[in-house]
Amino acid sequence: MGKLWEGRFSKALDTQADDFNSSIHFDSRMFKQDIQGSMAHAAMLAAKGIIGKQDAETIIAELGVILEDIQSGSLPIDYSAEDIHMFVEAELTKRIGDTGKKLHTARSRNDQVAVDIRLYLKDEAAQIIALLKTLLDAILHQAKLHKTTIMPGYTHLQRAQPITFAHHLLAYGMMFTRDICRIQDAVKRMNYSPLGSCALAGTTYNTDRYMTAEALGFDGITLNSIDGVSDRDFCVELLSAYATVMMHLSRFSEEVILWASWEFKFVELDDSYTTGSSIMPQKKNPDIAELVRGKTGRVYGDLVAMLTVLKGLPLAYNKDMQEDKEAIFDAIDTVKQCLTVFPPMLKTLKALPENMLRAAQKGFINATDLADYLTKKGIPFRTAYKLVGQIVAYCVANDTVLEQIPLSQYKSFHELFEEDVFEAISLRRCVESRISAGGTNPDSIEKQIAYIEEFI
Ligand code: ARG
Repeated sequence: MGKLWEGRFSKALDTQADDFNSSIHFDSRMFKQDIQGSMAHAAMLAAKGIIGKQDAETIIAELGVILEDIQSGSLPIDYSAEDIHMFVEAELTKRIGDTGKKLHTARSRNDQVAVDIRLYLKDEAAQIIALLKTLLDAILHQAKLHKTTIMPGYTHLQRAQPITFAHHLLAYGMMFTRDICRIQDAVKRMNYSPLGSCALAGTTYNTDRYMTAEALGFDGITLNSIDGVSDRDFCVELLSAYATVMMHLSRFSEEVILWASWEFKFVELDDSYTTGSSIMPQKKNPDIAELVRGKTGRVYGDLVAMLTVLKGLPLAYNKDMQEDKEAIFDAIDTVKQCLTVFPPMLKTLKALPENMLRAAQKGFINATDLADYLTKKGIPFRTAYKLVGQIVAYCVANDTVLEQIPLSQYKSFHELFEEDVFEAISLRRCVESRISAGGTNPDSIEKQIAYIEEFI
């Protein structure tokens, strides 16, 4: 394709340099936003008397047809074009002649690309938020099934205190609600139109930037034209939010992988979300969770790539900034893929409550409750804590557990032990009596479920 700027040059761009320079292979995905931006721009140019009303109508109508043609596939993208902006403008001019050449008045590709990417990222953010909500749904589904399913809660991957499976899952629910807030927050800060900043310094035409901003759904305009074309903070912010989504998914995946192992066997993954081995007939592998965990690295890489592209860049636009797209598009694609497979995998997994309970019954998971029992009878907590340590040591030495020591033995440790000690350290009681707000008690679980339901 001939270059729009060829008037200044006596020689064509080297073919390999041309390929290297071109971004249409990845920025063509913004065709819709590019056309929306151009339509708003043309309408504004006519409203301000910069181009004729008839010209604007012709431009807008033809841009609408080009949009339909790209969407239907009848207009294939010409990959010899430099980028999507050049492609659309050249196609317009091919179709309506000189009128098409008026579109780029009072505009530059620098503000054009800055507006396109914001519109595109906003559309994608809405889709990612919707996917995160399907994940919250899957979490709620399992949490509701397992409000009273007891499992060991861990610290240091050592059994620590009994909790319910619902409580554990709802912890992830809280993370993903924050992720949605982080994305919404980044979108809010991004939602100012740079269109009309032109190359960097603004324009000599009497444009109305507020008009295009409003037509495109922005909350206002960027206030400094240099910043308008050179700012990519919103890419960094969104990438950071997406990297955090992946970090959460990766932690969750790690636990699903552990839970599905024979060592834990807390869950059975549905056949439709597991794979077999090519050699070991017994295998049922948690590949989906592993891949989600693995793909987290690429999204972290995308964030670091973006930060590095921007580091040390002088104002205003530099071609380095074209590198923003591959980084953020890759992150978006990866997060969307992961959020498409993870929620149904979670929703279809079968928890195995007996195995969870069995694991909770070992490891002195109720030792804190035994100390609390004595404390409530007037013994200072530190004293009770030390005494329970001795009781645990006794159990280990005698190959028994707290539930099985006879009362007479308890009394030899302290005279305040009574028959009610056994009830106090039963796992069900341990869970129900953690009455503090946000704790593992049933009332708190109901509140957490209600909060996430309301949030969705
Ligand atoms: N493809 C370019 C990008 O993505 C569009 C802006 C080009 N501007 C320029 N002055 N060369 O950044």
